[in-house]
Amino acid sequence: MGIGSKKSLARLQGEDGEGQQLHRTLSGVQLTLLGIGAIIGAGIFVVTGTAAAQHAGPAIVLSFVLAGFGCLLAGLCYAEFASMIPVAGSAYTYGYATLGELVAWIIGWDLMLEYLFASSAVAVGWSGYFTAFLRDYVGWELPAALSNAPFGTTPGSLVPHATGALINLPAVLLVGVLTALLVVGIRESARINNIIVFVKVAIVLLVIGFGAFHVEREHWTPFIPPNTGEFGQFGWSGVLAGAGVIFFAYIGFDAVSTAAQETKDPKRDLPMGILGSLVVCTVLYVLMAGVMTGLAPYHELDVAEPVYVAISKGGPALAWLRPIVGLGAIAGLASVVLVMLMGQPRVFFAMARDGLLPEFFGRIHPRFRTPYISTLITGVVAMVVAGLFPIGLLGHLVSIGTLFAFMVVCAGILVLRYTQPQLHRPFRTPFVPVVPILGILTCGALMLGLGLETWLRLVLWLGLGLVIYFGYGRRHSRVAREEASRQDAR
Ligand code: ALA
Repeated sequence: MGIGSKKSLARLQGEDGEGQQLHRTLSGVQLTLLGIGAIIGAGIFVVTGTAAAQHAGPAIVLSFVLAGFGCLLAGLCYAEFASMIPVAGSAYTYGYATLGELVAWIIGWDLMLEYLFASSAVAVGWSGYFTAFLRDYVGWELPAALSNAPFGTTPGSLVPHATGALINLPAVLLVGVLTALLVVGIRESARINNIIVFVKVAIVLLVIGFGAFHVEREHWTPFIPPNTGEFGQFGWSGVLAGAGVIFFAYIGFDAVSTAAQETKDPKRDLPMGILGSLVVCTVLYVLMAGVMTGLAPYHELDVAEPVYVAISKGGPALAWLRPIVGLGAIAGLASVVLVMLMGQPRVFFAMARDGLLPEFFGRIHPRFRTPYISTLITGVVAMVVAGLFPIGLLGHLVSIGTLFAFMVVCAGILVLRYTQPQLHRPFRTPFVPVVPILGILTCGALMLGLGLETWLRLVLWLGLGLVIYFGYGRRHSRVAREEASRQDAR
């Protein structure tokens, strides 16, 4: 008993009405915007450059197709769960319903990689564009020691090395300001998010539309550069590794599901938010990656602000676009950090309600109606991580952690279809079992594309999570306690 305890669907749905309520303010369109706000960010604006330069070359376009396909499969599974269990907690809650408490805990812990660490990673990406914008258009050169990570990665080594920098201060400050905004309330932050999403999509469309006229075909030749002899360095294995790395760019559509308790009509709005945002972003990414690698030779894109570099290659005709892209990236990446910072406390909220985390994680502010304590905890940890580590290390870790969670979600759909076929499913994942099985295989393949160090970091992280579960969560679990008292009563 205990680690295998499951929560019944009826109970999960009932929890919606119990205890402290979050405000129900979000519509389907707002959720789609929330999704796009979470998705388009440092992945396309920063990681595309590194992934093209180090792994796939122009074939990064294919990597985007592959990663988008994996996300679509996982997204279809997410949508069934999210419509069926429209309560806070995302994949964590779905795991609790289907695979038991231990698996739920593992996913919940793993989701910290997806939300908390992702918010730090994107803040680091934001800092790159912010610093470049200040340098080029305001004339302020921030000292390198205060705008870079003090730790860097060495290929083949698990331990980061010192870079000589002190702290990535802009990234820390951004997270601090957004955390304060989130403590005050979702209504205000969602409205600001909507405006920024429009700006961000407009910028991406401008780069695609105007950049397309300056593409040099020879930059696309050969489209798949030959493999260097090492797995993951160009060739088809490079396409796979590139897909694992830029998978980061797609993360966020499931943040929509973490806002389930704040959604007006979860059954209709959640699938629309998840799938709509995913489809829009896949199309934009494929076009944008094609234009970027067509404007600049791919090996020149390995920088903190690759979209800037690509546009510069377009010559004076595209010079006007540079400051606009800079401002768009600054606003757009900030909106991603905002959504990530919003998703994490809601997972904590669900875990605290189940007793797996201390009760104060779930406390809601009496006036703002926000999970303010877990928002503050998330913000402080994200600030520290953003201040210390580079985007490469964080992005890889976020990708692998999220892929793992997606695999479990796909598995959960399979399990539930066979164990509880009669359940009412407002949205049904099509072609079960093909879609979830393909989802598991695709996400697994993308995980293989990420290097050994990233795998080891994932294992260490999950190991730490297990220690905490067996030290705290298991003993305080509400479901397990209730099961025990029911058995005593018999
Ligand atoms: N998908 C998000 C981004 O690319 C995490 O910034």
